[in-house]
Amino acid sequence: MSRSAHPAGPRHGEVIADGHYTAPATDLNLLDAKIWSHTVARNADGVATVAGIEVTRLAEEFGTPAYFLDEADFRARCRAWADAFGRNADVFYAGKAFLSRAVVRWLDEEGLNLDVCSEGELVVALAAGMPAGRIAYHGNNKTTGEIERAIGAGVGRIVLDSFQEIAQVAHIARRLDKRQPVQIRVTVGVEAHTHEFIATAHEDQKFGFSLAAGQAAEAVRRTLGLDGLELIGIHSHIGSQIFDMAGFEVSARRVVRLLADIRDEHGVELPEIDLGGGLGIAYTSEDDPAEPGAIAKSLLEIVTRECEASSLTTPRISVEPGRAIVGPTAFTLYEVGTIKPLEGLRTYVSVNGGMSDNIRTALYDAEYSVALVSRRSDAEPMLVRVVGKHCESGDIVVRDAYLPGDLAPGDLIAVPATGAYCRSLASNYNHALRPPVVAVRDGEARVIVRRETEEDLLRLDVG
Ligand code: LLP
Repeated sequence: MSRSAHPAGPRHGEVIADGHYTAPATDLNLLDAKIWSHTVARNADGVATVAGIEVTRLAEEFGTPAYFLDEADFRARCRAWADAFGRNADVFYAGKAFLSRAVVRWLDEEGLNLDVCSEGELVVALAAGMPAGRIAYHGNNKTTGEIERAIGAGVGRIVLDSFQEIAQVAHIARRLDKRQPVQIRVTVGVEAHTHEFIATAHEDQKFGFSLAAGQAAEAVRRTLGLDGLELIGIHSHIGSQIFDMAGFEVSARRVVRLLADIRDEHGVELPEIDLGGGLGIAYTSEDDPAEPGAIAKSLLEIVTRECEASSLTTPRISVEPGRAIVGPTAFTLYEVGTIKPLEGLRTYVSVNGGMSDNIRTALYDAEYSVALVSRRSDAEPMLVRVVGKHCESGDIVVRDAYLPGDLAPGDLIAVPATGAYCRSLASNYNHALRPPVVAVRDGEARVIVRRETEEDLLRLDVG
């Protein structure tokens, strides 16, 4: 697996001077299967299609901007993860990446479990009929109300994140006459190679109990001593959009070592470990993520080996991929508006959305790809920056990319790999109406999250 450093300029081709450039290495009409959902293709007329439907038709019917989510691809990725980890492991889809009732039903049908981290996510999961026993509840600051609701609903596990919470969950469970299965989230001290805002296993951050500082061992002691809690395992999530498996390996090793310490101190072998989510996906052709099969093989081998070395029975393993399942399954379709060439620099292409439907570029310096999808073009490539329509210069969707030089207002362009953390992080900034999510499958398209309307905006504004 490899990933390029953030390039200062375009990835394909090279700017020579004064806005002149060499042609990018690849034909701009090609849609790289690595970054587009499985059923995306270009038809004989050069129009891109998804699940057999032309994007031009989708734009007419559903408007732009809009997210189009490839249901067959989503289900295939769920199956790939479940198959890769097999019978002795559980896959929990991380709902924060994108959650809707339709998605919950797909997960349920494909046999996946669900990780939620808020009452809102729990509500959606339960409303869609996900059995509570297959839900894991996360969060570093769960309120009393949330804990009551989660335990009352019968969630399969609560992942404990602070000493306060250990006491609180135990207290509420006893009051409700329940014994709540819990895991303890530990901070394993790994510096994950990803953006600071999405790295979560180094010491100086808000999640979990530190292994190195002994907090994790103390959390285990307290949890084992409380009637309302059934400690089923240890949890570690090291961060997000990670390509290098080394961090997961260190994490797995340290978690197994803790299991051995727990056995030695308390005489109990915990039956489960959860290694979190965080596997990276390809946003550009340069990104090279691992397949679920390779990830599963490597993690299962490490855990088995480490457990053998410590004479532990291998625990049941769970993982929590969010982005790696939903990320590649959707693209955002935009209409091109203003085109502004800046002599010697680049051409700014404005679209009818922006940081309100994709904040990731502004927030994490994320890189994306973009393609002209409403037609083919063999015009010379031009270096562009795709920007939104919001009132700030940081409102960038794709920082550096090439689009055909004959791009014109009214063309449709699409940004792939926007299934994760785009709609779920979308905002109403500048009173933008959040775009719909349209599921496409076998030549059919249906709205699963509708576009916001002016009435929605005014309904909240009670005067
Ligand atoms: N498990 C836990 C405990 C998590 O906190 C997360 C993500 C996941 C699983 C799923 O991680 P994934 O497989 O999706 O990387 N908004 C950021 C990502 C924040 C991730 C938060 N936690 C982004 O857009 O990159």
